[in-house]
Amino acid sequence: MNDDVLISCQGLRREFTVAEGRAGLLGSIKSLFSNKTSVIRAVDDISFDIRAGEFVGYVGENGAGKSTTIKMLTGILTPTGGRALVNGVVPYEERVKNAFNIGVVFGQRSQLWWDLPMSDSLDLLRAIYRVPQARYHESLAELSDWLELGPLMKMPVRKLSLGQRMRADLAASLLHGPKVMFLDEPTIGLDIIAKDNVRRFLKKINKERGVTIILTTHDMDDIEALCDRIIIIDKGKIAWDGATARLKSDHMQGKILEVEFHDYNPKIHEAVGLTEMKSEANKKWLRYRGDGGAALNEVISALFRDYCVKDLSIHEPKVADVVKAIYQHGAEVGEDGGA
Ligand SMILES: Nc1ncnc2c1ncn2[C@@H]1O[C@H](COP(=O)(O)OP(=O)(O)O)[C@@H](O)[C@H]1O
Ligand SMILES: [Mg+2]
Repeated sequence: MNDDVLISCQGLRREFTVAEGRAGLLGSIKSLFSNKTSVIRAVDDISFDIRAGEFVGYVGENGAGKSTTIKMLTGILTPTGGRALVNGVVPYEERVKNAFNIGVVFGQRSQLWWDLPMSDSLDLLRAIYRVPQARYHESLAELSDWLELGPLMKMPVRKLSLGQRMRADLAASLLHGPKVMFLDEPTIGLDIIAKDNVRRFLKKINKERGVTIILTTHDMDDIEALCDRIIIIDKGKIAWDGATARLKSDHMQGKILEVEFHDYNPKIHEAVGLTEMKSEANKKWLRYRGDGGAALNEVISALFRDYCVKDLSIHEPKVADVVKAIYQHGAEVGEDGGA
């Protein structure tokens, strides 16, 4: 393994055995009386290497397998196949040792004690992680300054707003000075200002403390704002992995035409020089690459001439469009201009 690889997964897999027909109350009652089970492959043969200092977005729709991957890398879950290594430690074999090297934040769940003032929670974590007092105070002063925690320190965690609580959790996860940080949907449910605070803080931690970050999210604005690299995961498998800049240069040149048709959604072939990115009911999102071939106005006239176009608008491609297209069509979409 290369020296500066900090996190590595090789053929990582995790299956869950579930009772069949568990959806809904009736389903779960029925499943009590049957011993039929089925296997869900939540993470299916995932391999990647992450180097020190990278800021990686681990992106996927609900149920794609993001949290399951993070749980294996933090040692909460054991894989059913393959292997993971975080800073030289197999996380699920040496969970405590791993915990000293990593910081973890789950957006949905706080690691702080609900009824204690924030400062007491942080002090307990200091003791758990055996952080020397002097280092603790230095680290806390810096984090508190960056996250503006001062006025909140004496408040019980249950009284904090979601955004304040997230700031407290971010500080808590970094007190022991980990090299690696795992964040599972840290901006979920936050308003725009709180999201922005979290993003600015994460950027700082990555740049100034050199912390390697893996962030799972389904918020593409998080990705555009933060990540140098994106791993897109779909149904437990990696659908795309590369530099955010490459995603942009490979998939985001040109324009997106958002076209609404009158009564049906026609098959548009390559003849019009467009790539279908996404399709819904009477609408299509089509990419115009603009590298040679027909001019945009010619393409648009051809659309109006050959199809029953009701409405058409033009915009710049967004990371969200590209990621959706990769879910729908796979990574080849737009790679060579052909759908
Ligand atoms: N403890 C579990 N038991 C059974 N199925 C699970 C469990 N955890 C996750 N799954 C299933 O595995 C799949 C991936 O889940 P998850 O990793 O939580 O996805 P994501 O975080 O991307 O939304 C989903 O189909 C989910 O229902
Ligand atoms: Mg999740």
